[in-house]
Amino acid sequence: MRITKAAGALGAQLSDFNIVDVIESDEAFAAVHAALLEHEVVFVREARITPLQQRAIALRFGPIEGHPAYDVVTGTADVQILESTADKPSKIEMWHSDMTFRPAPPMLTMLHGQVIPAFGGDTLFASMTAAYDALSRDMQRFLDPLTARHDFAHGFKESLAEPGGFERLKGALADNPPVDHPVIRTHPQTGRKALYVNSLFTLRINELTAPESRAVLDLLIRHATTDEFTLRVSWQPQTLLMWDNRSTQHKPVNDFFPQHRRMHRITVAGDVPC
Ligand code: SIN
Repeated sequence: MRITKAAGALGAQLSDFNIVDVIESDEAFAAVHAALLEHEVVFVREARITPLQQRAIALRFGPIEGHPAYDVVTGTADVQILESTADKPSKIEMWHSDMTFRPAPPMLTMLHGQVIPAFGGDTLFASMTAAYDALSRDMQRFLDPLTARHDFAHGFKESLAEPGGFERLKGALADNPPVDHPVIRTHPQTGRKALYVNSLFTLRINELTAPESRAVLDLLIRHATTDEFTLRVSWQPQTLLMWDNRSTQHKPVNDFFPQHRRMHRITVAGDVPC
C-alpha cells in the first residue's frame, strides 16, 4: 500500500492496494488502521464497493453506531444516507466532530461518494492534535482540567425549527440529553492530546462563567481551524474516506447548491472521552 500525505498536519491518500482486502486480511486492515492513526484522515480513490462491503470494512474497526437523524440504505440497518438536493439542501455548515452529544461519540466515520457535484461540495478537516500541540504550555495547563457541555438540540436547532422537525426528532432529543466531555481528550490508541470542543455541539465550558466560557470557546474554535491544521478533500465518485473522530473536526463546504450530492455514511462506536 502506498501512503501519500495530502497536507502538512493531517490526511493521506492510500493507493496501490485493494480496499476490499481489509475485510478478510488482518495485514491489510492493520496497514489501513495504522495509517488512520498516524494521518487522522485517509482516503482511497476508485473504491468500487457496495454498501454491504463498506459495512464489512467498518466492522473491522468495531461495532457500528447508528445516527438518530439520518435515513439508511434499503437492505441495511445502519448504512446512512447523507443527501443534498435542490429541494433538500444540506444543513451541516459548522465545524464539528461527529456526535459529541453522545456519552461515547463514534471513533470513526466513513463516507463513500455516490453522487458527486460537478463543482464544490469538498470536505474540510482540521487536526485537533495539531491544534492542541500549537497551544502554549500555560494554555494547555489551563484547559486540561476543564469540561464542556455538548448538546444534540444545539447542533440540530435548524432541523428542529423546520416544519415537522420537532415531531421527527423528538425521540432523538429524548434519547440524547446534554453530556459533558473533557475540553482536552487523550487519544486512547496514540496517547496524543487533542482539543475537544466544536462549534456545532459544544454549549459551554462548565467551570467558567458564561461570558468567560463564550470568550474561551470562541478563541479555541477559531484556533482549531487555523489554516495550517487543515486539509481539503475534493470528492470523486467512489472515493472512500475515513476520519478519526477523536482527533479531528470536519466541515462540508456547502457551495454546490442546487446540485445533487449523496454519500453513504457509517460511524463506528467509540469510547468515553477522557
Ligand atoms: C458529516 O459531517 O458527517 C458529513 C461531511 C460531508 O458531507 O462532507
